[in-house]
Amino acid sequence: EEDPPYVFVVFGASGDLAKKKIYPTLWWLFRDALLPNNVNFVGYARSALSMEQLKASFEKYCKVRESEKETWDRFLRKCAYVQGKYDDAEGFKCLQKLIDGMQTAANNIAVNRLYYLALPPSVFADVTTQLKENCMDKGDSWTRVIIEKPFGHDLQSSRVLSDHLARLFKEDQLYRIDHYLGKEMVQNLMVLRFGNRIFNPSWNRDNIGSVLITFKEDFGTEGRAGYFDQSGIIRDVMQNHLMQILTLVAMEKPASLNAEDIRDEKVKVLKAISDIKLEDVVVGQYIGDGEASDESRRMGYKDDSEVPRDSKTPTYAMAVLHIKNERWEGVPFILRCGKALNEKKAEVRVQYKQVNGDIYPAGDLKRTELVMRVQPNEAVYLKMMTKKPGMGFGVEETELDLSYSSRYKDTRLPDAYERLFLEVFMGSQINFVRTDELDYAWRIFTPLLEKLEKVTPTQYKFGSRGPPEADELMRRHGFVFTGTYKWNPPKL
Ligand code: BG6
Repeated sequence: EEDPPYVFVVFGASGDLAKKKIYPTLWWLFRDALLPNNVNFVGYARSALSMEQLKASFEKYCKVRESEKETWDRFLRKCAYVQGKYDDAEGFKCLQKLIDGMQTAANNIAVNRLYYLALPPSVFADVTTQLKENCMDKGDSWTRVIIEKPFGHDLQSSRVLSDHLARLFKEDQLYRIDHYLGKEMVQNLMVLRFGNRIFNPSWNRDNIGSVLITFKEDFGTEGRAGYFDQSGIIRDVMQNHLMQILTLVAMEKPASLNAEDIRDEKVKVLKAISDIKLEDVVVGQYIGDGEASDESRRMGYKDDSEVPRDSKTPTYAMAVLHIKNERWEGVPFILRCGKALNEKKAEVRVQYKQVNGDIYPAGDLKRTELVMRVQPNEAVYLKMMTKKPGMGFGVEETELDLSYSSRYKDTRLPDAYERLFLEVFMGSQINFVRTDELDYAWRIFTPLLEKLEKVTPTQYKFGSRGPPEADELMRRHGFVFTGTYKWNPPKL
């Protein structure tokens, strides 16, 4: 039996996301022979572009090696471009014709369709409507639609969008990307929790003092401040990436590994989260570091010409969330994210409570922490106490360290997008955001975002740890930072 043909269509083919992320990802998957044999790629956009011009836009991001030239040419021969409007049937009819041609070339086997909408929200509704009218499968193959944030701006606009999509497509045709769900360590969270008897029994309010989920970047919003000022760090990172991690850390064991079972459990966590109080939130906005040698670090957020002088948009936020259920009541989940900070890292830090009936000199025992390091230097490490090696009986902090760069030296960790694209081909929705999940996430953050519109963020300097009030907020919620220990990734 012959392989069915597939087509992957990139709407917004001339845009930034397409050239920097989507085409390179398709190329790497193609190069590594991970895609089905009979796949074609079609770019769609409004501009009059030749395939040669489109290629020129994404080629440099594809990092094609000399030895891959032949495969690269084969990849390009599978690429086509359709110029068309977003709100007019004509271009979509052209696209449909092209797909019909692919079907004919494949001995009349119907083509499976993946439509990737790398588009601004303003044309979203038009394109999906046109797709539905002109470019759907005829029931003898499938159609899947991949979409990227922003999924609305608040609860109401997100609902308008979700309702619109629900009128056109079934839930199992919709793949909402949150690329954090494609990261190795995020995908590992469930295995760690449900695949090891040692963690799960202590994974609760009796043993865990707090959970800190951190996202830090050491660069500012250069180049995309216009977009960023409309969203801010809470919409950009916290409401999606950090909340996804939170639900995976907090959820109950799903009935099975089936996507619906897993997403049901994630939704239950969201339902149990109480309103976020303003006093449990710190927001910040970075200012330039006048002493920095690097020009870009001397620029504050508002020095960017795309940002209004009176912008109250936070570039840093910390929020303490509470999950009111039997497992977690009383355990603060601290979400922290920011741009232009002292380092680049994303991690989950589960801090255990202090030992009961401590027999060691006061202050010697530090809290056990299980850290899942998402990036860079993927690792899982358990910060723990040990006897100070050698003569004597003192204790000291150390770690059990599973660093991927040393333990899995020869394994290439694929990029999040590579994994997620493949999952769409395979029809697995585990790592995509379901409509109700999105809705509940907005329900949690919309009231807070409304209150924050009147709050002026605290200034923090480019390259700093963020507003000092944030450290104070964590302390108030029982997170203990001693500063006596620093994890170092293994040197290779
Ligand atoms: C995006 C945000 O979703 O994630 C960006 O819009 C952020 O602001 C990016 O920089 C971070 O992704 P990663 O994979 O580089 O950690």
